[in-house]
Amino acid sequence: MNTATTSREGLHAIENASRDEIASLQLERMKWSVRHAYENSAFYRKRFDEHGVHPDDLRTLADLAKFPFTVKQDLRDTYPFGMFAVPREKLSRIHGSSGTTGKPTVVGYTANDISTWADLIARSLYAAGGRAGDICHVAYGYGLFTGGLGAHYGAERLGCTVVPISGGMTERQVTLIRDFQPRIIMVTPSYMLSIQDEFRRQGIDPRESSLKVGVFGAEPWTNAMRQEIEQAFDMDAVDIYGLSEIMGPGVANECVETKDGLHIWEDHFYPEVIHPETGEVLPDGELGELVFTTLTKEGLPMIRYRTRDLTRLLPGTARSMRRMEKVTGRSDDMIILRGVNVFPTQIEEQILKCAGLAPHFQIELVRKGRMDDMVVHVEANPNDPSAEARAAAAKELAHHIKSVVGVSTKIDVADPNSIQRSDGKAKRVVDNRPKE
Ligand code: DLL
Repeated sequence: MNTATTSREGLHAIENASRDEIASLQLERMKWSVRHAYENSAFYRKRFDEHGVHPDDLRTLADLAKFPFTVKQDLRDTYPFGMFAVPREKLSRIHGSSGTTGKPTVVGYTANDISTWADLIARSLYAAGGRAGDICHVAYGYGLFTGGLGAHYGAERLGCTVVPISGGMTERQVTLIRDFQPRIIMVTPSYMLSIQDEFRRQGIDPRESSLKVGVFGAEPWTNAMRQEIEQAFDMDAVDIYGLSEIMGPGVANECVETKDGLHIWEDHFYPEVIHPETGEVLPDGELGELVFTTLTKEGLPMIRYRTRDLTRLLPGTARSMRRMEKVTGRSDDMIILRGVNVFPTQIEEQILKCAGLAPHFQIELVRKGRMDDMVVHVEANPNDPSAEARAAAAKELAHHIKSVVGVSTKIDVADPNSIQRSDGKAKRVVDNRPKE
């Protein structure tokens, strides 16, 4: 099967190949990837040897379960270049994801890896409804973060005219959108809301903008948020997923014709969903932690990397490759409040039901005596920030959260524009509980 570079227009054959064809390509590539990791990375050789497994043990796709997991701590332990499977001189680029601790997690790409990445972003943009010749406004951050440069190379590969504006300076974002008339925007959904607010602040209806396709990701967001943005801009909003360790954006992407979860580009990444505590592989359809094995990556092969993202695998629809459901959240972001598991996305969904509120919010965790409490700080709708409207909205939101999510929360309906904005990933949870 020809799996070479995507043509500029149209789908590549592999995107609608039969499941058998996909599985046989995956097995061939998985054998290569596991052997490449073992033979060229001292880290993997030691890990596999300790675990008593060898690349020869991989005869079927299911045999992958015999191999050990890889986790973020492994990258930290081998910081900066210890996990690479090619000599450093063969890397053409380094990226990193900023952790909460000072040092980033470092990832590296050969020239072939960069080219595959561009192909997959081009494929993702096409799936989202982007076409060669479109102007593409890239407001993901440029730098060590994979969002900006990843999107950039892929949009160029599709044949777009790219505007590499990066994040921030919201007023200028709006000016350039009005002047350059892009059809596509690539940005985090939370920063898209800031751009939306800025349009209105300038007295312009966002529906009058040229934007028709939004490719939003890098953080969890809900279908309720999709509707909010689609209506505000009269555009299609689709989800793009990825993580630096596996590549960056473009590991999976939604198709505009179905908007029913993200097709995983399975010819390059093999997904598994596991039970987060036991590590057992779960059947498709069950909710658990997403794990990826890279099938073609040269610089930094990842074998069974635990993403911490929670989702389920679903059969293909618009493409034959499997889908992942929109990510509910990361296991790290799960709040356990008096025994109930709560994700920020669940709160977002309820906020978007309340007409008296704007979709900007932050969750604060506090402790009173021995009890943990959750305060939802959310902005009043700027069209009616009166005290009565706020009190009614607070009551409505508390009720929705109690009846749908199952926890009692305090609601603080704050002034419009008072909650901290981010020009990249939004920080949804602030933990102000005293440290033990
Ligand atoms: O956020 C890569 C990216 C850039 C994806 C631009 C999409 C668009 P990291 O900084 O390494 O890489 O963060 C990866 O972000 O494990 C998820 O927890 C979260 N994430 C990324 N995309 C989505 C999404 C980039 N569409 C981590 N929905 C991942 C939910 C997402 N969470």
